[in-house]
Amino acid sequence: MPITIRPASADDALRVVEVYVDSWNAGFVGLMPPIALDEGRVARWAGELAEGNWWVAEYDGVVAGLVGVGPSRDPLDPQLGELDTIAVDPTYWRTGIGTALMHKALDELAAGYPEAILWTLADYDRGQRFYASTGWQPDSNTRDNGHQVSYRFTFSWNHT
Ligand SMILES: CC(C)(COP(=O)(O)OP(=O)(O)OC[C@H]1O[C@@H](n2cnc3c(N)ncnc32)[C@H](O)[C@@H]1OP(=O)(O)O)[C@@H](O)C(=O)NCCC(=O)NCCS
Repeated sequence: MPITIRPASADDALRVVEVYVDSWNAGFVGLMPPIALDEGRVARWAGELAEGNWWVAEYDGVVAGLVGVGPSRDPLDPQLGELDTIAVDPTYWRTGIGTALMHKALDELAAGYPEAILWTLADYDRGQRFYASTGWQPDSNTRDNGHQVSYRFTFSWNHT
């Protein structure tokens, strides 16, 4: 399958926001209010993407998904990596693009951290199945009054 992963840049912001908004609105029906594509959101994403640590997946040359990583924000912990956002255009769901993006994210996290965390919605079956299928394990922690649950990934880390 012609999937390519490459670093994202600020120039990708409009298409990244299209993917993000469409995936959110299709994925979180009944769980989160819908969101809209607007200039403010595109500008915020352009700033985020310019900082690095974001990658896009292209399918036949079209940006079809995105992923970002960084240090854990909540809890604030520079030694713990965090999978920030992963999203795939619903047109391409279940074609392996999410997995390809996840492999890239895990490679990057493994290079910088002994362990990584992600947060997802407690009642979000699709996301949890996806994370389980890519090797993440629930760690029984919650936040936001139980609305979010976390998963962990431990790397066999023997960097010197
Ligand atoms: C979650 C998401 C990123 C998965 O992307 P994807 O490209 O469809 O993922 P893949 O095709 O690589 O699927 C990998 C595996 O995850 C699991 N999976 C993915 N979607 C699933 C679903 N709807 N139901 C059950 N299992 C699912 C399956 O095991 C799947 O393997 P299979 O298709 O061989 O059975 C995508 O659905 C999405 O963008 N959703 C909206 C945003 C979102 O949920 N982001 C992450 C949570 S915050």
